[in-house]
Amino acid sequence: MNTMALGKQINKEFIDELKNNANELSLFLQDQNEGAIVYVLEKLGRLNNDHSRKPLLNLLNHTNENIRTLSIKNLAKIEDISLLPIFVKYASTDKSTEVRRESVSAIGRIRNERAIPVLIELLKDEDPKVVMQAIRGLLVFSDKAGVKNELKKLLNHPNELIKEVINKEINGVQYKSNSQQKHDEFPPFLKNTVVHGDVEEIIKYMPDESIHLTFTSPPYYNARDYSIYQSYEEYINFLERVFKEVHRVTKDGRFFVLNTSPIIIPRISRAYSSKRYPIPYDIHPLLVKMGWEFIDDIVWVKLEASVKNRNAGFLQHRKPLAYKPNAVTEMLMVYRKRTDKLIDWNIQQYSWDKVKKSKVLDKYETTNVWRIDPTFDKVHSAVFPLELCNRVIKYYSYVDDLIFDPFAGTGTSGLSAINLNRYFFLTEKEPKYIGRIKEELNKNSSLFNQTPQPNFIELEKFILLSKKYGCTKKYDSN
Ligand SMILES: C[S@@+](CC[C@H](N)C(=O)[O-])C[C@H]1O[C@@H](n2cnc3c(N)ncnc32)[C@H](O)[C@@H]1O
Repeated sequence: MNTMALGKQINKEFIDELKNNANELSLFLQDQNEGAIVYVLEKLGRLNNDHSRKPLLNLLNHTNENIRTLSIKNLAKIEDISLLPIFVKYASTDKSTEVRRESVSAIGRIRNERAIPVLIELLKDEDPKVVMQAIRGLLVFSDKAGVKNELKKLLNHPNELIKEVINKEINGVQYKSNSQQKHDEFPPFLKNTVVHGDVEEIIKYMPDESIHLTFTSPPYYNARDYSIYQSYEEYINFLERVFKEVHRVTKDGRFFVLNTSPIIIPRISRAYSSKRYPIPYDIHPLLVKMGWEFIDDIVWVKLEASVKNRNAGFLQHRKPLAYKPNAVTEMLMVYRKRTDKLIDWNIQQYSWDKVKKSKVLDKYETTNVWRIDPTFDKVHSAVFPLELCNRVIKYYSYVDDLIFDPFAGTGTSGLSAINLNRYFFLTEKEPKYIGRIKEELNKNSSLFNQTPQPNFIELEKFILLSKKYGCTKKYDSN
């Protein structure tokens, strides 16, 4: 019987009736197929202390592990210390890890000191999820010296999540800001500024923790005309150095959205193959290592007609191995500067008025697949569609925040920032694109009525401004 049909027959009133009559519940559970038992166990809801244990205890030897897990879960709701030996038995001996995890969680839910020795024993379990549940149960008693000492022993546990929890519980909140600035403010000399020059030079003169959000699309190795690298390794090393600095200048717990995609360098002749470079996959481990926490992957999907056709050969010959799909996607990799603070902390740094003004009240994208037509520019060969920037900036920043694009190109992210009542800081090394940024921002100059006009400067002037601000230290990316 499918869930819909079951739902019709076994409604809430019927389940309430079963809950109040242990015999009826036992008989019903004996009679039914596994699907119906699971359905009822999932819908039982709250159970009082005086609820009969028998119908659930009878199911603990059921062959179906899902039924055993749900039975333990329901028994745990009764919060009865006399069930402790049962939970201990299933936590230590059941063949299914799901049943074992649920049993440890049930032991924790009892919140009774008699469970402490068992939970301590379970800290040695091989399954990190069992250990995590045991930690949860023990944290209720963390003021007891014995418990604290046992938890401390896990500081070097191989599992990263366990290490993180224990570190926070034992050592407290770790993060200390280097910045004098309030979280919702930023150094004024960066406001609506476009610096012409190499970002690697410019970024050294940016103060620590001055940026709320970075959204950027770096050069695509040697696939387009605007950048030349001697090797892929040199290119990846360059991005690594820049993104390390982006990390330094980003405020605690704030986001970095990186748009890249695998690229293709065409073959030199029919005697060779073309080469594909998986940029997002190669850069990801470096970002995590330098302190960015991976949050999400968003796939930007373009119209097939707008991308290079790689299908012509396969369409004719249809020979496996020589299949080449048209690449209609690019990645938007979303990272957060690693911190021990929750996102709620970031949100709490803003006034209620700013939170209200920043809310995304209109229709928004609910999936990680963003279908947006590409934009073509008369001067630049790879520009962001404005809609792409609008979404990123709306979802990952607050009104009056500072948005950074180190590889600004035509400055689409700056335009979007202004449209959405944010500020921008852009760097771009090609003079012809700086001209294009001016043109685009001038076209929209009415947007600047309330805010300072954009400031176009060269590196030397930027260094002076930075020093005047007190940022005299020349940061080194090493
Ligand atoms: C993919 S494009 C960005 C396009 C941009 N998103 C837009 O909407 O126009 C990358 C840009 O990075 C610039 N660039 C490359 N290396 C740079 C560097 N070292 N410093 C600053 N800009 C650089 C290129 O000139 C190019 O305009």
